[in-house]
Amino acid sequence: MEATIIDGKEIAARVKADVADSVSTLKKRGVVPCLAVILVGNNPASVSYVSGKRKALCEAGMEDRSIELPESTTEQELLGIIEKLNNDSSVHGILVQLPLPPHISEKAVTDAISPAKDVDGFHPVNVGKLVSGEKGFLPCTPNGITVLLKKTGIETDGKNVVVVGRSNIVGKPMALLMLRKEFNATVTICHTGTKNLADFTRRADILIVASGRPNTVTADMIKPGAAVIDVGVNRIPDSSRKSGFRLCGDVDFEGAKKVAGFITPVPGGVGPMTIAMLIFNTLESARQTLGGK
Ligand code: GUN
Repeated sequence: MEATIIDGKEIAARVKADVADSVSTLKKRGVVPCLAVILVGNNPASVSYVSGKRKALCEAGMEDRSIELPESTTEQELLGIIEKLNNDSSVHGILVQLPLPPHISEKAVTDAISPAKDVDGFHPVNVGKLVSGEKGFLPCTPNGITVLLKKTGIETDGKNVVVVGRSNIVGKPMALLMLRKEFNATVTICHTGTKNLADFTRRADILIVASGRPNTVTADMIKPGAAVIDVGVNRIPDSSRKSGFRLCGDVDFEGAKKVAGFITPVPGGVGPMTIAMLIFNTLESARQTLGGK
Protein backbone atom coordinates (compact mmCIF):
# COMPACT_ATOMS: atom_id res chain seq x y z
CA MET A 1 0.00 0.00 0.00
CA GLU A 2 1.30 3.44 -0.87
CA ALA A 3 1.81 6.18 1.70
CA THR A 4 -0.94 8.61 2.59
CA ILE A 5 -0.01 11.97 1.10
CA ILE A 6 -0.11 14.73 3.70
CA ASP A 7 -1.87 17.62 1.97
CA GLY A 8 -0.05 20.66 3.39
CA LYS A 9 -1.93 23.00 1.12
CA GLU A 10 -5.27 21.91 2.51
CA ILE A 11 -4.14 21.96 6.15
CA ALA A 12 -2.53 25.39 5.64
CA ALA A 13 -5.79 26.66 4.11
CA ARG A 14 -7.63 25.63 7.29
CA VAL A 15 -5.08 27.39 9.52
CA LYS A 16 -5.23 30.50 7.33
CA ALA A 17 -9.04 30.54 7.44
CA ASP A 18 -8.94 30.40 11.28
CA VAL A 19 -6.38 33.23 11.33
CA ALA A 20 -8.56 35.31 8.96
CA ASP A 21 -11.56 34.85 11.33
CA SER A 22 -9.48 36.04 14.29
CA VAL A 23 -8.21 39.00 12.25
CA SER A 24 -11.82 40.17 11.68
CA THR A 25 -12.51 39.93 15.41
CA LEU A 26 -9.35 41.87 16.23
CA LYS A 27 -10.19 44.54 13.66
CA LYS A 28 -13.52 45.14 15.42
CA ARG A 29 -11.46 45.98 18.50
CA GLY A 30 -9.46 48.51 16.51
CA VAL A 31 -6.29 46.48 15.84
CA VAL A 32 -5.23 45.64 12.28
CA PRO A 33 -2.41 43.04 12.35
CA CYS A 34 0.46 44.38 10.28
CA LEU A 35 3.60 42.70 8.97
CA ALA A 36 6.62 44.17 7.19
CA VAL A 37 8.45 41.69 4.98
CA ILE A 38 11.81 43.06 3.87
CA LEU A 39 13.45 41.72 0.73
CA VAL A 40 16.96 42.82 -0.23
CA GLY A 41 17.97 42.12 -3.84
CA ASN A 42 16.29 39.71 -6.24
CA ASN A 43 17.31 36.15 -5.42
CA PRO A 44 14.66 34.26 -7.48
CA ALA A 45 13.68 31.85 -4.69
CA SER A 46 13.42 34.71 -2.16
CA VAL A 47 11.29 36.78 -4.57
CA SER A 48 8.93 33.83 -4.90
CA TYR A 49 8.76 33.18 -1.11
CA VAL A 50 8.15 36.86 -0.36
CA SER A 51 5.34 37.12 -2.88
CA GLY A 52 3.69 34.04 -1.30
CA LYS A 53 3.96 35.62 2.16
CA ARG A 54 2.51 38.94 0.98
CA LYS A 55 -0.38 37.22 -0.78
CA ALA A 56 -1.26 35.29 2.39
CA LEU A 57 -1.12 38.50 4.46
CA CYS A 58 -3.63 40.21 2.18
CA GLU A 59 -5.91 37.16 2.08
CA ALA A 60 -5.97 37.10 5.90
CA GLY A 61 -7.07 40.76 5.97
CA MET A 62 -3.79 41.96 7.45
CA GLU A 63 -1.84 45.08 6.57
CA ASP A 64 1.18 44.56 4.33
CA ARG A 65 4.00 47.04 5.03
CA SER A 66 6.57 45.19 2.96
CA ILE A 67 9.69 46.87 1.64
CA GLU A 68 11.73 45.81 -1.38
CA LEU A 69 15.30 47.09 -1.39
CA PRO A 70 18.07 46.97 -4.02
CA GLU A 71 20.98 44.54 -3.72
CA SER A 72 23.25 47.56 -3.10
CA THR A 73 21.50 48.44 0.21
CA THR A 74 24.05 48.84 3.01
CA GLU A 75 23.84 47.15 6.39
CA GLN A 76 23.48 50.58 8.02
CA GLU A 77 20.52 51.45 5.78
CA LEU A 78 18.81 48.16 6.54
CA LEU A 79 19.41 48.54 10.30
CA GLY A 80 17.94 52.07 10.09
CA ILE A 81 14.77 50.72 8.44
CA ILE A 82 14.44 47.99 11.09
CA GLU A 83 14.81 50.56 13.88
CA LYS A 84 11.98 52.65 12.43
CA LEU A 85 9.74 49.58 12.18
CA ASN A 86 10.68 48.55 15.76
CA ASN A 87 9.50 51.97 16.96
CA ASP A 88 6.29 52.00 14.93
CA SER A 89 3.51 50.68 17.18
CA SER A 90 1.23 49.97 14.20
CA VAL A 91 3.69 47.31 12.95
CA HIS A 92 3.36 43.93 14.74
CA GLY A 93 5.81 41.78 12.80
CA ILE A 94 9.11 42.30 10.99
CA LEU A 95 10.63 39.64 8.74
CA VAL A 96 13.85 40.03 6.79
CA GLN A 97 13.98 37.39 4.07
CA LEU A 98 17.18 35.33 4.17
CA PRO A 99 19.71 34.88 2.67
CA LEU A 100 20.97 38.47 2.60
CA PRO A 101 23.64 39.72 0.16
CA PRO A 102 27.13 38.82 1.46
CA HIS A 103 28.01 42.41 2.46
CA ILE A 104 25.21 42.41 5.10
CA SER A 105 25.63 40.49 8.36
CA GLU A 106 22.61 38.23 8.91
CA LYS A 107 23.43 38.09 12.60
CA ALA A 108 23.48 41.89 12.98
CA VAL A 109 20.12 42.11 11.19
CA THR A 110 18.46 39.28 13.11
CA ASP A 111 19.67 40.73 16.43
CA ALA A 112 18.32 44.19 15.52
CA ILE A 113 14.69 43.07 15.19
CA SER A 114 12.70 43.63 18.39
CA PRO A 115 12.04 40.17 19.94
CA ALA A 116 8.38 41.26 20.36
CA LYS A 117 8.07 41.66 16.57
CA ASP A 118 10.30 38.73 15.56
CA VAL A 119 7.61 36.61 13.88
CA ASP A 120 10.34 34.41 12.33
CA GLY A 121 11.50 33.39 15.83
CA PHE A 122 15.16 33.90 14.87
CA HIS A 123 16.18 36.49 17.51
CA PRO A 124 18.43 35.05 20.27
CA VAL A 125 15.76 35.92 22.88
CA ASN A 126 13.18 33.77 21.08
CA VAL A 127 15.75 31.03 20.40
CA GLY A 128 16.55 31.02 24.15
CA LYS A 129 12.85 30.76 24.99
CA LEU A 130 12.52 27.80 22.63
CA VAL A 131 15.46 26.08 24.33
CA SER A 132 14.18 26.68 27.87
CA GLY A 133 10.53 25.97 27.03
CA GLU A 134 9.18 29.49 27.60
CA LYS A 135 6.50 31.02 25.41
CA GLY A 136 7.98 32.99 22.50
CA PHE A 137 7.68 33.16 18.74
CA LEU A 138 8.37 29.75 17.21
CA PRO A 139 10.15 29.45 13.84
CA CYS A 140 7.47 29.00 11.18
CA THR A 141 8.69 25.89 9.34
CA PRO A 142 9.26 23.64 12.39
CA ASN A 143 6.09 24.93 14.04
CA GLY A 144 4.17 24.26 10.82
CA ILE A 145 5.48 20.68 10.81
CA THR A 146 4.15 20.12 14.34
CA VAL A 147 0.74 21.30 13.13
CA LEU A 148 0.91 18.96 10.10
CA LEU A 149 1.68 16.02 12.41
CA LYS A 150 -1.10 16.92 14.87
CA LYS A 151 -3.76 17.49 12.21
CA THR A 152 -2.81 14.25 10.45
CA GLY A 153 -3.12 12.37 13.76
CA ILE A 154 0.53 11.24 13.81
CA GLU A 155 1.53 10.40 17.40
CA THR A 156 4.93 11.71 18.57
CA ASP A 157 4.91 10.55 22.20
CA GLY A 158 7.72 8.02 22.73
CA LYS A 159 8.46 7.86 19.00
CA ASN A 160 11.87 8.03 17.34
CA VAL A 161 12.09 11.33 15.51
CA VAL A 162 15.14 11.69 13.28
CA VAL A 163 15.92 15.16 11.91
CA VAL A 164 18.33 15.35 8.98
CA GLY A 165 19.91 18.84 8.92
CA ARG A 166 21.10 21.17 11.68
CA SER A 167 20.25 24.63 10.35
CA ASN A 168 19.14 27.38 12.71
CA ILE A 169 15.97 27.86 10.63
CA VAL A 170 14.76 24.24 10.52
CA GLY A 171 16.88 21.39 11.91
CA LYS A 172 17.83 22.74 15.34
CA PRO A 173 14.45 24.30 16.26
CA MET A 174 12.65 21.22 14.90
CA ALA A 175 14.64 18.94 17.19
CA LEU A 176 14.05 21.25 20.19
CA LEU A 177 10.29 21.29 19.58
CA MET A 178 10.05 17.51 19.32
CA LEU A 179 12.00 17.28 22.59
CA ARG A 180 9.34 19.26 24.48
CA LYS A 181 7.12 17.29 26.90
CA GLU A 182 4.20 18.27 24.68
CA PHE A 183 5.62 16.08 21.87
CA ASN A 184 7.77 13.82 24.03
CA ALA A 185 9.78 12.23 21.22
CA THR A 186 13.23 10.64 21.33
CA VAL A 187 15.16 12.93 19.02
CA THR A 188 18.24 12.31 16.87
CA ILE A 189 19.87 14.99 14.74
CA CYS A 190 21.89 13.89 11.70
CA HIS A 191 24.03 16.21 9.60
CA THR A 192 26.81 16.27 7.01
CA GLY A 193 29.22 14.78 9.56
CA THR A 194 26.96 11.78 10.26
CA LYS A 195 28.47 8.45 9.23
CA ASN A 196 26.08 5.80 7.87
CA LEU A 197 23.05 8.08 7.70
CA ALA A 198 20.78 5.17 6.75
CA ASP A 199 21.48 3.45 10.09
CA PHE A 200 19.79 6.39 11.79
CA THR A 201 17.01 7.15 9.31
CA ARG A 202 15.88 3.49 9.28
CA ARG A 203 15.08 3.76 12.99
CA ALA A 204 12.83 6.79 12.52
CA ASP A 205 9.10 6.57 13.14
CA ILE A 206 9.03 10.19 11.99
CA LEU A 207 11.76 11.28 9.59
CA ILE A 208 12.15 15.02 9.01
CA VAL A 209 14.52 15.85 6.15
CA ALA A 210 15.96 19.35 5.83
CA SER A 211 19.36 18.72 4.26
CA GLY A 212 18.96 21.05 1.28
CA ARG A 213 20.05 18.32 -1.14
CA PRO A 214 17.87 16.20 -3.49
CA ASN A 215 17.77 12.43 -2.87
CA THR A 216 19.35 12.69 0.60
CA VAL A 217 16.80 10.06 1.61
CA THR A 218 15.87 7.16 -0.67
CA ALA A 219 13.34 4.35 -0.19
CA ASP A 220 15.88 1.91 1.30
CA MET A 221 16.60 4.40 4.12
CA ILE A 222 13.00 4.50 5.39
CA LYS A 223 11.35 2.23 7.97
CA PRO A 224 8.15 0.76 6.49
CA GLY A 225 5.15 2.79 7.65
CA ALA A 226 7.18 5.80 8.87
CA ALA A 227 5.99 9.38 8.46
CA VAL A 228 8.36 11.25 6.14
CA ILE A 229 8.38 15.05 6.24
CA ASP A 230 10.31 16.62 3.36
CA VAL A 231 11.41 20.20 4.01
CA GLY A 232 13.57 20.52 0.87
CA VAL A 233 12.84 22.98 -1.91
CA ASN A 234 15.31 22.40 -4.73
CA ARG A 235 15.04 23.91 -8.20
CA ILE A 236 15.86 21.37 -10.91
CA PRO A 237 16.38 22.71 -14.46
CA ASP A 238 13.49 21.51 -16.66
CA SER A 239 13.17 22.88 -20.18
CA SER A 240 9.65 21.45 -20.53
CA ARG A 241 8.40 23.96 -17.93
CA LYS A 242 7.59 27.60 -18.67
CA SER A 243 9.64 28.66 -15.63
CA GLY A 244 12.61 26.55 -16.81
CA PHE A 245 12.67 24.54 -13.57
CA ARG A 246 10.68 22.18 -11.40
CA LEU A 247 10.75 21.82 -7.63
CA CYS A 248 11.85 18.72 -5.80
CA GLY A 249 12.42 17.96 -2.14
CA ASP A 250 15.30 16.29 -0.31
CA VAL A 251 13.57 12.88 -0.42
CA ASP A 252 13.16 10.63 -3.47
CA PHE A 253 9.38 10.96 -3.37
CA GLU A 254 8.48 8.29 -5.94
CA GLY A 255 10.54 5.63 -4.17
CA ALA A 256 9.74 6.78 -0.63
CA LYS A 257 5.97 6.74 -1.04
CA LYS A 258 6.11 2.98 -1.67
CA VAL A 259 7.63 2.40 1.79
CA ALA A 260 6.43 5.24 4.05
CA GLY A 261 3.08 5.34 5.84
CA PHE A 262 2.74 9.10 5.39
CA ILE A 263 4.68 11.54 3.22
CA THR A 264 4.61 15.25 2.40
CA PRO A 265 4.87 16.22 -1.28
CA VAL A 266 7.06 19.01 -2.68
CA PRO A 267 5.52 21.40 -3.53
CA GLY A 268 2.33 21.39 -1.47
CA GLY A 269 3.62 19.87 1.79
CA VAL A 270 5.65 21.85 4.30
CA GLY A 271 5.94 25.10 2.25
CA PRO A 272 2.32 26.26 2.61
CA MET A 273 2.49 25.57 6.38
CA THR A 274 5.47 27.92 6.79
CA ILE A 275 3.39 30.76 5.40
CA ALA A 276 0.32 29.84 7.47
CA MET A 277 2.41 29.91 10.68
CA LEU A 278 3.88 33.28 9.72
CA ILE A 279 0.45 34.90 9.58
CA PHE A 280 -0.48 33.04 12.79
CA ASN A 281 2.58 34.55 14.55
CA THR A 282 1.69 38.00 13.21
CA LEU A 283 -1.83 37.61 14.59
CA GLU A 284 -0.40 36.56 17.98
CA SER A 285 1.91 39.57 18.01
CA ALA A 286 -0.99 41.92 17.25
CA ARG A 287 -3.07 40.27 20.00
CA GLN A 288 -0.25 40.81 22.50
CA THR A 289 -0.51 44.57 21.98
CA LEU A 290 -3.93 44.35 23.69
CA GLY A 291 -2.11 42.97 26.75
CA GLY A 292 -4.66 40.23 27.45
CA LYS A 293 -7.54 42.75 27.41
N1 GUN B 1 14.69 31.94 4.11
C1 GUN B 1 14.31 30.64 4.03
N2 GUN B 1 13.37 30.37 4.96
C2 GUN B 1 13.16 31.53 5.65
C3 GUN B 1 12.30 31.87 6.71
O1 GUN B 1 11.53 31.06 7.27
N3 GUN B 1 12.37 33.17 7.11
C4 GUN B 1 13.20 34.07 6.56
N4 GUN B 1 13.20 35.32 7.03
N5 GUN B 1 14.01 33.77 5.56
C5 GUN B 1 13.98 32.50 5.11
